[in-house]
Formats: sequence, structure tokens, C-alpha cells
Amino acid sequence: MPDFLSEALALFEYTQSLRRDFHSHPELGFHEIRTAGIVARELTTLGLEVHTGVGGTGVVALLEGARPGPVVLVRADMDALPIREETGAAYASQNPGVMHACGHDGHTAILLTVAKMLHAHRNELSGTIKFMFQPAEEGMGGAESMIADGVLENPKVDGTLALHVWNEKPVGWFGIAGGPVMAGAEIFKIKVLGKGGHGAVPHLAVDPILAAAQIISALQGIVARNIAPLQTAVVSVCTIHAGETFNVIPPAVEMTGTIRTFEPLVRERVLERFEKTVHLIAEGMGCQAEIDLQLLSPATINQPETAARVQAVARQLFPGGNVDSANYTTMGSEDFAYILERVPGCFFFIGSANPEKGLDAGHHHPKFDFDEAALPRGAALMAAAITDFLR
Ligand code: NI
Repeated sequence: MPDFLSEALALFEYTQSLRRDFHSHPELGFHEIRTAGIVARELTTLGLEVHTGVGGTGVVALLEGARPGPVVLVRADMDALPIREETGAAYASQNPGVMHACGHDGHTAILLTVAKMLHAHRNELSGTIKFMFQPAEEGMGGAESMIADGVLENPKVDGTLALHVWNEKPVGWFGIAGGPVMAGAEIFKIKVLGKGGHGAVPHLAVDPILAAAQIISALQGIVARNIAPLQTAVVSVCTIHAGETFNVIPPAVEMTGTIRTFEPLVRERVLERFEKTVHLIAEGMGCQAEIDLQLLSPATINQPETAARVQAVARQLFPGGNVDSANYTTMGSEDFAYILERVPGCFFFIGSANPEKGLDAGHHHPKFDFDEAALPRGAALMAAAITDFLR
């Protein structure tokens, strides 16, 4: 195994200048035109076969090793968020109201560095590395659109890897675990339809507010009574709207919320109970219910074997480092899950906070920024994990 940590540290200025350039010029999902242009330019300079406009603004590049072997797909996301940056950094956003507040600028810079390192070692590699620079990770369907555009085919991929800088943990921490690591997320809208009327003569109306109240209470029973105590799910009603004045029973109530689960069977169970609870309570109270359920993202589930190999690589690369293999999970969601549904692989976390430098604001916060010491660590681990995968 080459000494990827030394190589990544030697390339630090390259990685950092890319990251800061992306950070200064953030672009929203499916509008990553400047970013994708720089990505394509860097990959073309290396002499890779580059495809642009994949699934919108996505970029795909192939690096062939000297000998045939498996195909590994490595993904970075490129999009920023609609947030006004408040970091005060010298490299802060020059695009008002748009900000790299999740670290995707770092992911893109890391993956370009990985391409550069592995290109230099291509004669030692058996197999193909497919680099995937993805648009619109933030709830807009970028991974799905690249899948629909054939990113998993031609050549067909055998395994996949991706990383996320993680500000909940300090630099030097690596979260690598098999099984579910991020939650699956559903968005729901419920419309409870009754019959409006005078507040003083409720028997002539069908009150959707009372039905909605019963539904909200009953929904909290799903996790409490239908899901095993050691398994996890969340059902949250987050908005409720009805009525205009104090003496009119309104004709309808609208509610929205989210469901979060990790295990496919738990998800199925929650959704089944959710639909029955809403419909039958509404009907029992003389109302009708309409449900609009939208899958934001399935759970991000790592293949245990691949996760174990990445853990072993990390322990070798960072002796004495903090490689955390406990089931580090978060109820956030991640659209790399759509790829992991189809291809076995591993999504891992690179600790990136540094509280002493004030770099520990959470993801999606206007003051979010991370310690760039995470960049070479992420690049080294990814390059080593790819190399190990191709062996
Ligand atoms: Ni993110």
C-alpha cells in the first residue's frame, strides 16, 4: 500500500485551494455549473475519460488501472445550501444567500485529490475507478438522476464508497460502521376532510379538528406500541393548519411532518400503521383523510464486509487514531443511500471539528466551517480504501 497520508499531506495546498475556491463560489443543486467545470478541467488535465452533464450537472470520470479487475464507484457531492454565510472567513461565499454549509466543497476537493493520487499509481492498480461528482444532494434527487442517467452501468460497478466530513466529531476521528448509518426519511402531508359549520351547532357539522387531534395522539402510539423497544423510528407532526375564526368549524385540517427509520422492515411497519391510523380514525369520526407520502431518501445502509475493510485500512493508516466502529448513526438522511440500495459499499464519516479554533458549528448552520486538516485525512483514507477494494 502506498503511503497515501504523506502523499495527501504533500498535496494539501492543492486540496485547500480547490476547497476554498468552491467555498467562495457555492452553487445550489442542479446549478453546479462553475463547480462542475472545474471538476471536469482537473480530471481532463489528468488525462481521464470525462463525461459531463450526467444527471444534470454531474461529472463522471474513469481511471483504468494497468490490469483488469473490479469497478469501484467513488462519489462526492458538489451542491451548496440556500443559507446566508456568517463565518467571516476570508474565503466566505461571494454568492449572497448561498453557502457551502455542509462540507460538500471539501468532498469535491478531496475526491479530486484522490483522483490525482491514484492516477499517479495507476500502473499498480487492477480494475477501474469511476469518479462520480454529484449534483443536488440536499433533498433534490441528484443521486437518483445520475442513476437514471446510467452512472452505475457501462462499466457496471461492483462496489461503492463515499465520505462526509463530520463536525459533530473532532479531526482525527473516523466513523466507519456496517449496517445503517443514516436514517431513511419520509415527508408526509395529511388532509382531514370534514364538514364545516357553526361552532354553536357542532352536531350539524363534521369536525375535522377533533379528528386531527385524535390522529396526532394516535400516531405517537406507532413507535411506542408497534416498534420493538430496541429499534428506532420517529414520527413527527410538524405543522397543522385549520380554521379562520372562533365560531366556525372548518371543513378541513392540513398537517405535515416527517417519518425517520433505519431498518426496511421497521419502515414498512411504521408506514402501514401510519396509513391505517390516519384513515380509520378519520373515518371513525365521520371524516375522510388524504395522505401524501413522499420518500426523501431511504436509510443509508453499509455492507458490513466493506465497512470492515475500510475500518482495517483506517487503523493501518492512522495508528493510534480514533477509528470508531460503533454503530455511529444519525437521524439525518443522505441520498448516497440510493446507490447503496443497488451496490454494496460504505459511507463513512471524517471528523472535521476543531473547537479550539472555533470550527465546530453544526452542519447547515450559517457559521458552519471545518478544520481543513480533515482534508488530507479524508483523501488518504479514501485513496487507501479504493486501493484495498481493488485488491
Ligand atoms: Ni451533506
